[in-house]
Amino acid sequence: MEKYNYGVVGLGVMGKNILYNIADNGFSVAGFDLDAEKANTLADGATPGTSVMGTAVLEAFVQSLELPRKIILMVPAGKPVDIVLTNLKPFLHQGDIVIDAGNSFFLDTERRIADYATLGLHFMGMGVSGGEKGARTGPSIMPGGDLEAFNKVKPMLEAISAKVNGEACTAYMGRSSAGNYVKMVHNGIEYAIMQLISEAYDLLRKGAKLNNDELYEVFRKWNEGEMNSFLIEITRDIFREKDTLSKAYLVDSILDKAGAKGTGKWTSEQGMEIGTSIPTIDIAVTSRILSAYKEERMVASELYGEKSVEAVTDKELFIEEVGEALYVSTLISYAQGLALLVNASEEYKFEIPLKDVVKIWRGGCIIRSVVLETFYQAYSKRPELTNILLDETIVDIVKSKLGSIRKTAAYAASNGIPSLGLQTALGYFDAYTTASLPVNLIQAQRDYFGAHTYQRIDREGIFHTSWDSCNL
Ligand code: 6PG
Repeated sequence: MEKYNYGVVGLGVMGKNILYNIADNGFSVAGFDLDAEKANTLADGATPGTSVMGTAVLEAFVQSLELPRKIILMVPAGKPVDIVLTNLKPFLHQGDIVIDAGNSFFLDTERRIADYATLGLHFMGMGVSGGEKGARTGPSIMPGGDLEAFNKVKPMLEAISAKVNGEACTAYMGRSSAGNYVKMVHNGIEYAIMQLISEAYDLLRKGAKLNNDELYEVFRKWNEGEMNSFLIEITRDIFREKDTLSKAYLVDSILDKAGAKGTGKWTSEQGMEIGTSIPTIDIAVTSRILSAYKEERMVASELYGEKSVEAVTDKELFIEEVGEALYVSTLISYAQGLALLVNASEEYKFEIPLKDVVKIWRGGCIIRSVVLETFYQAYSKRPELTNILLDETIVDIVKSKLGSIRKTAAYAASNGIPSLGLQTALGYFDAYTTASLPVNLIQAQRDYFGAHTYQRIDREGIFHTSWDSCNL
């Protein structure tokens, strides 16, 4: 019997789409799902002429694959991955490769790599971004870990991924669980950009009193220039979507409570864990948390009264400034996420190639944007760059738009328009670009009440002072 080249476990929308994508690229693929309905109808959705088979019997699925088996898991992160791995184990053969393509926590991946290695099995964590559509037509793929296993699946990954300038949006992201880590940070940046876009929307509707048709036009124009990106593009389209229930614009009927599955929170926790400042990502996570206090927010809004927003006089200028503020704060969010990757690479010995990260984020993924090309050029010149804000081209871009971010942040603050992301991006920028911060005072205070010692600017050594006779 002819054996299949690849296997996919989990035939939900993402699993099915990745499977069809692999098949469309000339590989034969078997799919497994416990749900017999999903397994039995799998072949119906495949492109005619491609080789696809579905089954709800795990052993039959595993036996249908050529050796070494190459199995991709498309199941929800957490317990389901462990269950599948346990169930697969008895049927696998030494040298088989199992790739988890979900949003798994990187430390879970490390545990699973070690567990599978005891049986001579290869386990890899691989980030996949692009949503349902991307999975079918070309996602950005972030594999990491076992190099030998990676090289066996590399041709397939290159074939199914998105392409930018003829280059595949996939590359080896580094050792161990680097693939999951890079995807986690991708999502952290995604949270920050989405937060910033929502704030720009709020500023435009409150400050410039733009309606949804006008917002559509603004985002359409933004998407045609330097802000061209997937998230700006879908935001444009959201403003045009009519509701089938109320016949009005759908966006106005959506409850303002944001959901979250956890990757943003992990990114934020990692920032704290390994000592990397990523405040715009942190604030994006906590803003979603705050949005869930809907009832409390309504009470508080009654107590403190409606905020009166002063309408802007020059709408065109305001729109331009909000656009520039969004552009530069988005850039600062990328800078924070990439800085986290630099530190994580060092901390966990991942050896993440930053140049390749920004290269494969140029297409297919949720945070794809034309600015990634500028980052790619920057890392190509200086792979050791610790923060993208230190690149000369970026310095010029940010300097040219600084006035707009300051004016927009000031307008938001003085009119009571929530702008946590924008203010934090600006605050991070100002702190990062300040040679002398006032934390000398914090050091003095720490030494005052806790004898925590301090260093001096004029000589080497560790110092302590008896600050006052009435010390605490
Ligand atoms: C992607 C997305 C994808 C998913 C997010 C949603 O890159 O394709 O990031 O992974 O849509 O995890 O995350 P939240 O539900 O936490 O917003």
